[in-house]
Amino acid sequence: MENTDSKKVIFSGMQPSGELTLGNYLGALKNWVNLQEEYDCYFCVVDLHAITVRQKPADLRRRTLELLSIYIASGIDPEKNTFFIQSHVPAHSEAAWLLTCNSYVGELSRMTQYKDKSQKAGDSIGAGLFTYPVLMAADILLYQTNLVPVGKDQLQHLELARDIATRFNNTYSPTFAIPEGYTPKIGAKVMSLQEPTKKMSKSDDNVNSFILIMDPPEVIRKKISRAVTDSLGVINYTDEQPGVKNLLDIISAIKGVSPLDLVKDYEGKGYADLKEDAANAIIGELSPIQEKVKALMSDKKALEAIYKQGAEKASYVGTKTLRKMQKKIGFIPR
Ligand code: AMP
Ligand code: TRP
Repeated sequence: MENTDSKKVIFSGMQPSGELTLGNYLGALKNWVNLQEEYDCYFCVVDLHAITVRQKPADLRRRTLELLSIYIASGIDPEKNTFFIQSHVPAHSEAAWLLTCNSYVGELSRMTQYKDKSQKAGDSIGAGLFTYPVLMAADILLYQTNLVPVGKDQLQHLELARDIATRFNNTYSPTFAIPEGYTPKIGAKVMSLQEPTKKMSKSDDNVNSFILIMDPPEVIRKKISRAVTDSLGVINYTDEQPGVKNLLDIISAIKGVSPLDLVKDYEGKGYADLKEDAANAIIGELSPIQEKVKALMSDKKALEAIYKQGAEKASYVGTKTLRKMQKKIGFIPR
């Protein structure tokens, strides 16, 4: 089903359950700024997803607002995009139930993220972790979303959302657009600073392996100075030197200069020079963002105006789809 606006719809959600890394920023956020002209974008802070594992209430509150602030501070314009907090739009929870009744235990049991987690936790795994992908499907389908920018680990959940949407459309009548994954044309893959053949991830046990968007300058310097390189002692852009390559990729993504052009400046220079430049580039990029985040976090009224306006728009669009679902299922209109 087409949305009335001719622009394609993008929906993306991030959980306020952890801190964002330089990987999230260079791989996702920094590029989302380029999407806002071409697409109708919804950026959602998925707090309902975050409570699938126990959250300290004060932490959840702070992280929800901080995540919203990071979106905005990264340059994504709240006037051109819809930012909102998932729990502010009840249609998500309601649609999730309707879709749960159109999902199978079998397909949910096949989700690798659930399988991994249930292997560790056994029977005491939260039921929310089992139905989580259905809530994610509701998020996506309520907005007649065409494109969903997600990491590889979420592709299986997106595939499930497509299956659920297709099933609902076939059982009743066309109700949902069938969403597709979206990989931005540009967007760096940032590797772990400690094991540079692995992706940088906030869930890594070693805090030296990742840089957080909110890490202060001295922490960034320390983590970069400890970044694993190699014993070759020359700076080339090659897979044989994954640590060096990662640092070049980071500088390249920030400065917009190709890594091969960067390499030319490092003839006769050592890893200390490269690390210093990498640290300076990261600090130069993140400092203004951190300042903006702090300013937004200290002006809760302005932030509130943004998420309230976002919830209003999201509610309008999302509820329209929800009402269609209810009607088709056979509920009496209110
Ligand atoms: P996640 O934190 O894995 O839920 O990912 C959220 C978004 O950030 C997705 O679009 C990922 O592709 C992106 N992302 C996360 N880690 C990295 C990384 N190390 N390099 C590039 N992009 C990343
Ligand atoms: N499940 C996603 C994650 O853990 C977050 C998410 C929830 C999401 N709803 C979404 C991502 C809808 C894209 C679209 O990263």
